[in-house]
Amino acid sequence: MSPKTVDIDATPEWAAVREHADRLRDTHLRDLFASDADRADAMTVEAAGLVADYSKHRVDDPALSALFALARAADVEGHRDAMFRGEKINTTENRAVLHVALRAPRDAEIVVDGENVVAQVHEVLDRMAAFSDRVRSGEWVGSTGKRIRTVVNIGIGGSDLGPRMAYEALKPYADPQITCRFVSNVDGDDLASNVEGLDPAETLFIVASKTFTTLETMTNARAARDWLTSNLDGADVAKHFVAVSTNLGEVEKFGIDPANTFGFWDWVGGRYSFDSAIGLSLMVAIGPSRFRELLDGMHEVDEHFRTAPLESNLPAIMGLLGLWYREFFNAQSHAVLPYAHYLSRFTDYLQQLDMESNGKRVRRDGTPVDYQTGPIVWGTPGTNGQHAYYQLIHQGTTLIPADFLAFLHPAHELGNQHDLLIANVLAQAEALAFGKTAEQVAAEGVAPELVPHRTFPGNHPSTTLVVEKLTPRTLGALVALYEHKVFVQGAIWQINSFDQWGVELGKALAQRIVPELSSDDELTHDSSTNALIRRYRAARRG
Ligand code: F6P
Repeated sequence: MSPKTVDIDATPEWAAVREHADRLRDTHLRDLFASDADRADAMTVEAAGLVADYSKHRVDDPALSALFALARAADVEGHRDAMFRGEKINTTENRAVLHVALRAPRDAEIVVDGENVVAQVHEVLDRMAAFSDRVRSGEWVGSTGKRIRTVVNIGIGGSDLGPRMAYEALKPYADPQITCRFVSNVDGDDLASNVEGLDPAETLFIVASKTFTTLETMTNARAARDWLTSNLDGADVAKHFVAVSTNLGEVEKFGIDPANTFGFWDWVGGRYSFDSAIGLSLMVAIGPSRFRELLDGMHEVDEHFRTAPLESNLPAIMGLLGLWYREFFNAQSHAVLPYAHYLSRFTDYLQQLDMESNGKRVRRDGTPVDYQTGPIVWGTPGTNGQHAYYQLIHQGTTLIPADFLAFLHPAHELGNQHDLLIANVLAQAEALAFGKTAEQVAAEGVAPELVPHRTFPGNHPSTTLVVEKLTPRTLGALVALYEHKVFVQGAIWQINSFDQWGVELGKALAQRIVPELSSDDELTHDSSTNALIRRYRAARRG
């Protein structure tokens, strides 16, 4: 049953949060720190090996209490419990939302439509493990008897970003004998450049698509099959193609052996799916036991989210702080800045997770929101961003709350490079929060006309997440943390975080335009689109 939609912005709790925001609007983090020596300790919370220091946020205890009260007014806990129970909280698609079942232990029980889905999850995990072991050991061979050296995942969106991000993140744990590549874009240059130089006899394609109808993926899958059969005499497609999908009928039509198909379920959203069979390429790379560790890290955060009181609940705290700035401080965007080179794809992954989930303008009951919903999520690994866009965060005119991610131990110890990396992440959070006053700048002897240019206003909020080391377990914990943060925000905003109708219109229009590009049919779009199509037609016909 769908939870009742609450006029959340008409509640006294919303009004109270606004009052606190107004009260604190001109308060500087310098003053908040000066008035409370224990602030950092009091505002640090730890869960599943993730330590979050949220003291550099423009909040105090009364403001935080008001935020927790707002979460209760929105019944975040009731909504969360409904998700864990397997209720169909994705109301526009009449589906349960059970990515938490993907990492539940073998003996857990979650029933959907009379079936214990945890048993189904483990059945697929076991098949994935057996398959991965065969590929990793060299027992699985291609048409000519050679072992597999390259796995190419063909998928897009949730069927690409998760495994791609995690493969990059966990490269130090991957089998060096097998390389994974990821093809997503319908731009033929993606597939062409990724198969360049590959030996088809040693290549295995994983076609990953929840629906198995996605234009990009099916186009690339067919092109990959053509590449295989035209470059390998007598190629046996079954030995070079496996599939991951909920649509087993379409997989069979494509010609992939049902025995080599790994299923999942409609209660797994695409952007919540990389810990399902969609993570098969990752499991081949890192092995089943490390994949299990990743699931365990996720489960640990699930349990924390499910059981911890809101006041010490890390996803709840991060979700509420995000909402605080988005609505009450007019922050348009949220930066996620991992100081870990291997997390190069983490923010790309979060963009889909957050923006496809909470980029919504109507509430669950279809009425429009009259408050801000999901932010623009962006960022790249430090320290690179420092030499590119941090200028704007420090001295620009827009408020950008940030999450800094820092790891105490690197994968590779190179001299004192890790000290340099960590010094930078700590320095950035400090500089953003406290800035540098005009008086401080002047006292350094800076020429008066340069003082305004060299002043840092500070008061830029951030969370610093500290993690022992980037491992399968901690990566899993981080992903689950962000999943649940997004959940908390969606619950308060009264939106359905689990559909994505906003991607449909562009898809439908593209289908209409495809035949028009190669025909002389009269065009009936707007004058701009018509002119652009004519220009393309002219260029392609020489
Ligand atoms: O972009 C829309 C979307 O449906 C995403 O939600 C999904 O992750 C992606 O397309 C790919 O879908 P599929 O796995 O069905 O190919």
